[in-house]
Amino acid sequence: MKTALITGATEGIGFEFAKLFAQKGNNLILIARNESRLQTISKELSSYKIDIKVYVKDLSILDNAKYIYDDLNMRHITIDYVVNNAGFGINDHYVEIDWQREQEMFNLNMITLAYFTKMFAKDMKVRKFGKILNVGSTGSFQPGPFMAGYCATKAFVLSLSEAVNYELKGTNVSVSTICPGVTDSKFHSVAKTENTLMSKLLSHATPEEVANYGFKIMMKGKSLGVHGFVNKMMIFSDRFTCRRIVIAVAGKMLKRQEK
Ligand SMILES: NC(=O)c1ccc[n+]([C@@H]2O[C@H](COP(=O)([O-])OP(=O)(O)OC[C@H]3O[C@@H](n4cnc5c(N)ncnc54)[C@H](OP(=O)(O)O)[C@@H]3O)[C@@H](O)[C@H]2O)c1
Repeated sequence: MKTALITGATEGIGFEFAKLFAQKGNNLILIARNESRLQTISKELSSYKIDIKVYVKDLSILDNAKYIYDDLNMRHITIDYVVNNAGFGINDHYVEIDWQREQEMFNLNMITLAYFTKMFAKDMKVRKFGKILNVGSTGSFQPGPFMAGYCATKAFVLSLSEAVNYELKGTNVSVSTICPGVTDSKFHSVAKTENTLMSKLLSHATPEEVANYGFKIMMKGKSLGVHGFVNKMMIFSDRFTCRRIVIAVAGKMLKRQEK
């Protein structure tokens, strides 16, 4: 039996990943901050006759990620799959966003993800098996005015993951990235993006669709998957468009509309 570790497993895309790995008979390590939600999910998924361990931890604090990694080692729990999914966004003028909140996002979206990728990939390389999936965004591909920090974190995710995946060639360990577009989840109420052209004009995927797609990308060991035809086309067209225009369009899409 294999074991999958999923961050941000209580909601949206992460919860769908947890269900998928459970359905396929994998043991689960689930991490998020909401204890009661983790307990409920754990009870629900235990019907699949798998072992489930939860960590109620805030992953914007690196010491918590270190604690989890050390605790798993101490318990001799081998991790075969990692989904670095936990993340959030903030929509506002960069200079208006409280530094503390911005830093939490940088820590969660980048530092913890980079730490888990390094530590688990290193162990997987020794065992000659393992798959890591890092969740990026269509925002990984261009600067995003009004979500400047968030898009920068997702550019980091993509850049790090693609490079590490290349380094791991021939080891039977892969680091894949999926880049979802707009997906219906709590992300938008947290980031305050509901009233943007992005949310109003672009089609919305379900978390289930995104997780199913990500699961396939991960299992094939593919380096990158952009979810959705329109998202793929938009990112492709950026290559032939002047960068100034790409940034201006992103700014129009991400600026909150006055009600
Ligand atoms: N939704 C979209 O349109 C969209 C598009 C592109 C990329 N993404 C990316 O997809 C990933 C998942 O997002 P989602 O849409 O599923 O969002 P979501 O529904 O808001 O879920 C976020 C998950 O992350 C957990 N989380 C948040 N802060 C955390 C922290 N400090 N420590 C530990 N866990 C934390 C949350 O659980 P707790 O609150 O219980 O901690 C929750 O389980 C994110 O990386 C996001 O950037 C989303």
